[in-house]
Amino acid sequence: MINIHNLSKTFTSKKGKVDALKEVSLEVKKGEIFGVIGYSGAGKSTLIRCVNLLEQPTAGSVQIDGTEITSLSSKDLLKARRKIGMIFQGFNLLKTATVYENVAIPLKLTGVPKNKIDERVNRYLDIVGLADKKDSYPAQLSGGQKQRVAIARALSHEPEVLLSDEATSALDPDTTDSILDLLLKINEEFGITILLITHEMHVIQRICDRVAVMENGEIVEQGHTLDVFTAPKHPTTQKFVNSIFNFQLTGDIVKSLRKTGEIIALKFIDQSSEEPVLAVVAKKFDVYPNILSGMITQVKNEPFGRLLVHFKGETGEIQRALHFLRNQGIQTDEVIRYEDNKRIS
Ligand SMILES: Nc1ncnc2c1ncn2[C@@H]1O[C@H](COP(=O)(O)OP(=O)(O)O)[C@@H](O)[C@H]1O
Ligand SMILES: [Mg+2]
Repeated sequence: MINIHNLSKTFTSKKGKVDALKEVSLEVKKGEIFGVIGYSGAGKSTLIRCVNLLEQPTAGSVQIDGTEITSLSSKDLLKARRKIGMIFQGFNLLKTATVYENVAIPLKLTGVPKNKIDERVNRYLDIVGLADKKDSYPAQLSGGQKQRVAIARALSHEPEVLLSDEATSALDPDTTDSILDLLLKINEEFGITILLITHEMHVIQRICDRVAVMENGEIVEQGHTLDVFTAPKHPTTQKFVNSIFNFQLTGDIVKSLRKTGEIIALKFIDQSSEEPVLAVVAKKFDVYPNILSGMITQVKNEPFGRLLVHFKGETGEIQRALHFLRNQGIQTDEVIRYEDNKRIS
């Protein structure tokens, strides 16, 4: 659906050159939700802006549905852009227009026949749950409601692809989740392909099928969300994954616990019965597992759990217990360091 190949973008300003994108390649399949995560300045917005040519790439290609968009005439580009909707962190609503008008005006501008506009505006405001706010002005809406108007506006053009640039970053956690659920509904019910960028791992975890991690204009890792969550390879990816599992262990606690045993992070995939496994370990081996912290959660629709366990006992016996756990399909990572007051490895 979206094929990005060796895409580069260099900004030249008085201060010098910035290579915001360096030969980025990725493919977003039809019907999937693809997330790009990275810290501020990684090049995410530049990447997404190159997909609808709000930004002209310096090199490389972007194909949408097989059409190379970087070489289109301005007339064909307008046509191609109609397939692509976009939502932003700042909503970009017209302040002096009502909710209804915010959706209707762009439709009018793109030449949708008058008799169709009313029907479309009503349909999409209904889908985002704002049918009763038609006559309100943006200033009378909450952040979540403003983003719903922006989503209705994007959907009203009946795009095949929705691009989202940090659409939930200005929202509180509950509102974030309600907007993410709306994006999921749009994806599932209308089959709209979504490419989103974010700096929040929670967004990836909740709705993305696949994820790419960006740093310094490059993609450093990509894969299916669950795979990336369970076995992050790049240090930046590991940092993002650990931000979800924020086990509050201080360096002093780690040091003290390691005197009597090992601290192990256990990862369970597609399994929810971890406690019996630990009970079996305690019975079978001369070790005492003590759960320090844990979380069972979902990555998109799949259950995924992580437990931080202190295994008290002799090193050899602990190793045998861990071997046993690995044979049960449980991943085991030794925790020996503690950094930044949250990172464990
Ligand atoms: N219009 C521009 N002119 C000059 N530099 C820019 C411009 N837009 C972005 N950059 C630079 O490109 C890099 C990537 O920016 P951006 O794509 O906005 O990152 P992100 O969205 O991941 O925070 C940054 O170093 C930023 O300062
Ligand atoms: Mg950005």
